[in-house]
Amino acid sequence: MFLVFPDSDAIARHLSARLTEIIRNDPQAVLGLATGGTMEPIYARFVQDALESRLDVSQVSSFNLDEYVGLAAAHPQSYNHYMHQHLFDHLAFDESRLRLPDGLTTQLEQHCRDYSDAIASHGGVALQLLGVGTNGHIGFNEPGTPFDSRTHVVELSERTRVDNSRFFDSMEEVPTSAVTMGIQDILSAREIVLVVTGEHKARTMLNYQEGGITEKLPFTALKLHANTHILLDEAAASLLDDTLCQRPPQQACA
Ligand code: F6R
Repeated sequence: MFLVFPDSDAIARHLSARLTEIIRNDPQAVLGLATGGTMEPIYARFVQDALESRLDVSQVSSFNLDEYVGLAAAHPQSYNHYMHQHLFDHLAFDESRLRLPDGLTTQLEQHCRDYSDAIASHGGVALQLLGVGTNGHIGFNEPGTPFDSRTHVVELSERTRVDNSRFFDSMEEVPTSAVTMGIQDILSAREIVLVVTGEHKARTMLNYQEGGITEKLPFTALKLHANTHILLDEAAASLLDDTLCQRPPQQACA
């Protein structure tokens, strides 16, 4: 079943409430976080709600999905920078509990092993936020990535580099590789929320609906996870079979 909302603001309100609930129930919750355009309204809304409700996030831990290889944390297009800009800097998080892969490490393979081990030693993440690439990637697990993969280094596909070039001044500046949590790491989350917005993702979602479970379309691995929720706006859901779409009642806007 797909949960369809009128727009990305409605999705953000819904998810902000869910994140708040998780943290209130367990102030030491471990969250799996994503970056990208899809997540921006969600973090903006959550920051606003958390400030208004004085939510205590000081004991929350987080693991981000991925980071570009070769970009320092302070680089304006690094995912580390993104997370500080959109979420971490606005609330009283404990910086030592917030983890992203290190795009500058010289010990990449060891770093990848340590990252997956750290997720496991925290008992896995309570909720994993995900966006999806137009080619079906989750994290930076590009088509063909084995479903039993753990954190690893990936060569970014041309399509992903072109899609992400909108954040850079030129195509040449888009990194060619990244460190990403593996699909097995993602599937180890107790709850997964995939958010898909925009007309440009409608065909990707149709492929998800019509296809089976295949490594050619990495996000079809989510069909193997019993507690996955797929939240879409009307534009992303426009090609889906309407009988598979549920439209939750809308909360009043604050
Ligand atoms: C980001 C990530 C990616 C994005 C995906 C969609 O941390 O892991 O999988 O979620 O590329 O990006 P946007 O939201 O920019 O369309």
